[in-house]
Amino acid sequence: MEALLCEKLGDPTVPHNSPESPITIARSHPVPSLASPTAVRVRIHATSLNYANYLQILGKYQEKPPLPFIPGSDYSGVVEAVGDAVSRFKVGDRVCSFSAVGSFAELIVADEMDLFPVPEGCDLLAAGALPVAFGTSHVALVHRAQLKAGQVLLVLGAAGGVGLSAVQIGKVCGAVVIAVARGAEKVQLLESLGVDHVVDLTKGNVTESVKKFLKMRDLKGVDVLYDPVGGKLTKESLKLLNWGANILVIGFASGEVPVIPANIALVKNWTVHGLYWGSHKIYLPHVLEDSLKELLSWISKGLIKVHISHSYSLQEANLAFAAIKERKAIGKVMIVIGKSSVARSKL
Ligand SMILES: NC(=O)c1ccc[n+]([C@@H]2O[C@H](COP(=O)([O-])OP(=O)(O)OC[C@H]3O[C@@H](n4cnc5c(N)ncnc54)[C@H](OP(=O)(O)O)[C@@H]3O)[C@@H](O)[C@H]2O)c1
Repeated sequence: MEALLCEKLGDPTVPHNSPESPITIARSHPVPSLASPTAVRVRIHATSLNYANYLQILGKYQEKPPLPFIPGSDYSGVVEAVGDAVSRFKVGDRVCSFSAVGSFAELIVADEMDLFPVPEGCDLLAAGALPVAFGTSHVALVHRAQLKAGQVLLVLGAAGGVGLSAVQIGKVCGAVVIAVARGAEKVQLLESLGVDHVVDLTKGNVTESVKKFLKMRDLKGVDVLYDPVGGKLTKESLKLLNWGANILVIGFASGEVPVIPANIALVKNWTVHGLYWGSHKIYLPHVLEDSLKELLSWISKGLIKVHISHSYSLQEANLAFAAIKERKAIGKVMIVIGKSSVARSKL
């Protein structure tokens, strides 16, 4: 089968044919076998590019798989073969899932308990983009922060993969949603999703813009901060938080881990949640499963929508990584397996 192999650490945006590229296309990689009676082999249709996949190839992610490895986490596809004891799926079923590594390939094997049926009304491309981004935001906002209708949610990096999902989940929960992003195209999309206030960082600063909005709506401050960016944006956002606010530490796309002063957290009764979605698979698997089931039902009812700004073939993976690195992604960047390398980019 065809697969993308990471053979050394480095920048995956370098063209594949350059000697510096850490990734290569293996044309006849061994097909993964059905190693247990409950194993299912899935022919992958689409797999999403997460910031973590980029960091992992750079060698800057918390999980460092031994080299060489096939990168990739969330995916969708069609069941191609099942083990003798599989009872939940049959050949031809549409499924989605995620794994620690391995989805940048034509085929992947998973246990049947780790697969989710893709419901009617949800296309396979969207299902392949859903687990990590929407799963993270759903567990963070619904399970951890227990976001309630009428509360004020502030989302940083709001037009990125996790950010755009947080904005939509916030709206489904009935929150007043404030989004922070950079540039007219991102702002336009966020406004089209019914976000209550968008801060365009190319035009102004977060504190000033949000304070003006809160005053206009007669609101005191922010109840939940969703932060996948870090750095000075976090520092500024802390000035907007209410007594008893929840801070969701999601990631550090700015490259800077922020400092959240414990003395102010004490005085203001803030709760700081470190949230690593993937580890729920080990420690709270039912939370993660229930969350994905709910998200798949929301998507088939049209309550949420996966926005895909770029779609590439496996051979164009370096361009997909570049879209993430250069902050061009709005929502998700996808790799569609078997997609012609001529028909690429914006869908
Ligand atoms: N905790 C978890 O379980 C979990 C799960 C998924 C992702 N994450 C983390 O969340 C973060 C975002 O992931 P993502 O997939 O949403 O990435 P993404 O699609 O690339 O979005 C990141 C957003 O951050 C903003 N940003 C601000 N400063 C940036 C910088 N210096 N470089 C790049 N982007 C910058 C960008 O928005 P503007 O250009 O509009 O400012 C961009 O839209 C990553 O750190 C990732 O590892 C964590």
